[in-house]
Amino acid sequence: MPRMYRLLCLGCLPALCGSEALEPSNQKASKKKRRGPALRKIPARTFLMGGDELSGAPGTKQISLQAYAIDETPVTNSHFREFVKETKFKTDAERYGWSFVLNSSLSQAVLRESPQHIESAPHWVAVENAWWRHPEGRDSSLKDRWEDYPVVHISWTDANAYCEWAGKRLPTEAEWENAARGKRKESLYPWEDSDVPGKGRWKMNIWQGRFPFENLLEDGYHAISPVKAYPANSYGVFSTVGNVWEWTSDPFPGSRPEEEPQWTLKGGSFIDSPAGEFNHKATVVTRMGNTADSGSYNTGFRCASGKGGGGRKRPPDQKVLEKLAEEGGIEAVQEFLAKSGQSAQVFTPAELQKTREELRKQQDSSRSPEL
Ligand SMILES: *[C@@H]1O[C@H](CO)[C@@H](O)[C@H](O)[C@H]1NC(C)=O
Repeated sequence: MPRMYRLLCLGCLPALCGSEALEPSNQKASKKKRRGPALRKIPARTFLMGGDELSGAPGTKQISLQAYAIDETPVTNSHFREFVKETKFKTDAERYGWSFVLNSSLSQAVLRESPQHIESAPHWVAVENAWWRHPEGRDSSLKDRWEDYPVVHISWTDANAYCEWAGKRLPTEAEWENAARGKRKESLYPWEDSDVPGKGRWKMNIWQGRFPFENLLEDGYHAISPVKAYPANSYGVFSTVGNVWEWTSDPFPGSRPEEEPQWTLKGGSFIDSPAGEFNHKATVVTRMGNTADSGSYNTGFRCASGKGGGGRKRPPDQKVLEKLAEEGGIEAVQEFLAKSGQSAQVFTPAELQKTREELRKQQDSSRSPEL
């Protein structure tokens, strides 16, 4: 039974994933000291999520969140090192043996020996042995970047493992966006005034100049920046929009059940633009989806905490779900979740197994970079 639930939980919905109801071990965790970045309390409120077509979320949805807490910064390299030291965890990028890096961040040597790139985006180069410890491949190190820089080349699976170890969970998309907006909930940016970003008022790490061959560095950084390079928002939360994409616990709305599941990333990254002239338009709304094993040079995460379990309704009780699954199978669970208004996309263990086998087969070709 527990094994089945692990699998179930992998492919399921914000309502289940990381929820206390399904993770009995979290009860212990909540009494343990939480690790990683300091948590900032975010008060309960109702806000309009989305609402910017160019950021990838046309239309708005009214969301009511209970109070929760979220890491004040993305998880840094030194935080992640603690986790790896203790658990010997191997990230997906390490298992695959390569990851995507932006060409202009590579040394000439590594660029020369890395002929593979994405057809439609040749600046994304497949680099052997690029992973969190060596973000730009074999000749790079984290010297001077341990404390202040976000960990990158992190997959959704890696991020979940870290948050669980830290006694936390991934934020839902709504929790992430709500925290990023700060006290002025109408704002598309983390700061209070409605200024769009521009020369002389860069308050986040995106790209200035003609991408990808020119970077004017008006915001001070070519690629990844320290997590506290710019001021915090009014909730005390740093580095939400730009810098690195951050994983959330929500399935990506565009992904269909018969395809390999995708998960939602928020906030854009250092290659994005103020108005979407190239790559993504960078706002608190910005989102995209990717598969659970994908990660690249501009992918990181932060964790959250709180029993909101998705910040909406309390998640269904584990005992209830187990009983339903025993008696009526996955269909019964799905029906129950649909009726209770919870996200009802659930994959059966067999479906998940199939997905994983296909993944193995496709391996390298299946992973796409965060563009
Ligand atoms: C990176 O790739 C782009 C093509 O997308 C190219 O224009 C640019 O010159 C390349 N930069 C480096 C440093 O190789």
